[in-house]
Amino acid sequence: MPVDHRNADMARAGSWSAESWRSKPIEQAPVYPDMTALGDVERQLSGFPPLVFAGEARKLKKALAKVSAGEAFLLQGGDCAESFAEHSADNIRDFFRVFLQMAVVLTFAAASPVVKVGRVAGQFAKPRTNPTETINGVELPIYRGDIVNDTEFTAAGRIPDPRRQLEAYRQSAATLNLLRAFATGGYANLENAHRWMLGFVNDSPQSGRYQEVADRITETLNFMRAIGLDSEAHQELRQTDFYTSHEALLLGYEQALTRIDSTSGNPYATSGHMLWVGDRTRQLDHAHIEYCRGVHNPIGLKCGPSLKAEELLRLIDVLNPANEAGRLTLICRFGSEKIFDHLPALVRAVEREGRKVVWSCDPMHGNTISASGYKTRPFERIMSEIRSFFAIHQAEGTYAGGVHLEMTGRNVTECTGGARQILETDLHDRYHTHCDPRLNAEQAIEVAFLVSELLKADRVGKAQPVGSAAE
Ligand code: PEP
Ligand code: CO
Repeated sequence: MPVDHRNADMARAGSWSAESWRSKPIEQAPVYPDMTALGDVERQLSGFPPLVFAGEARKLKKALAKVSAGEAFLLQGGDCAESFAEHSADNIRDFFRVFLQMAVVLTFAAASPVVKVGRVAGQFAKPRTNPTETINGVELPIYRGDIVNDTEFTAAGRIPDPRRQLEAYRQSAATLNLLRAFATGGYANLENAHRWMLGFVNDSPQSGRYQEVADRITETLNFMRAIGLDSEAHQELRQTDFYTSHEALLLGYEQALTRIDSTSGNPYATSGHMLWVGDRTRQLDHAHIEYCRGVHNPIGLKCGPSLKAEELLRLIDVLNPANEAGRLTLICRFGSEKIFDHLPALVRAVEREGRKVVWSCDPMHGNTISASGYKTRPFERIMSEIRSFFAIHQAEGTYAGGVHLEMTGRNVTECTGGARQILETDLHDRYHTHCDPRLNAEQAIEVAFLVSELLKADRVGKAQPVGSAAE
């Protein structure tokens, strides 16, 4: 007789509280030498105002429900790790500009609404493969993100310091404040589409393509104005919904920012709109799944090559027992060479069981290699994983719902390739990341064009009339 895992899991899961994760085994947790100081910080954080509101998280969940139904596309991206050192308005603005450009390319070229979610305003904690690193014979604890310790390779810098959580909260609040102003204060007005182009991208091949899209937008807006529809009267033309997300890794911080929503009576993480569980911390009975199952935000789950279909179904039972559309996004990160070995089985299992999920492609984390002493990602492999992701969904009759990218608005040289052909020997030039290599602005726009073509092809394929040659 088949075992009903769902009931078994629910019974074992038991009651949830914002601190019930503390009684579970945990991976990737920093060891704080001063527990009194940690307690003080967590107490302070639990008295601070929420960074985001439950109503906003609910709105994002509704938007993601549209994605899961194939009616919109999810664009999620940002730094691998935000840093305290790089916290200028210019940085945030340049990131936002590129993000808007990508969204416009996707919306306009593929005629698809785009749900915009930044890896930003809270992406400070990093899971690591090894607990320590050794340089010139000296072994020190690994860097775990600015919210935990320092990148600098010194014994003092690598000690986890709880006060960093207060700084991460402050920086998240300031970043979010600026993003909210950009999203609603006129900067994101579609009439400005031409002005979002960054100076250093101007002479690139992407620039010409983007200008064409921006020209068509201007033409459309002129036409709309002529018939009496303008951005004064229609706020969707002058502002946009922009959401934040990060990996829910540092659970003491997440617990301290958990609040009960007065409207619904449900607990919400208020550190960001969407949280995800990383590929290294998604064990069914462990702390990170325990915390995330209880908050009502949209949740992401990273799915790597070690995840088996049966295990995924049990994780879905725990994270989304009511099968609510928009609650769960599966962020797939297999690598360009492995995706065909893993994704089809997961898609079939989820489809067979009728689970509502958003399928998103993270083409970054399975395609990291070492070259000339740097961690890098070849642009062609990133593109290849995205193409395969779309091809698999087309073959399975499911919807390729989104992409999850590590990207920046800066002119960095961290990923090789792209239209400007960054070489391994160029990496040292502007390699600024605090963790994984990111797409630069130009490469990010190039990805957006590729995805818009795939989306368009997908839609044309689906629009084939019954009895056509496509049958
Ligand atoms: C990340 O998104 O930065 C990350 C560490 O991803 P993953 O959990 O998929 O390895
Ligand atoms: Co990363």
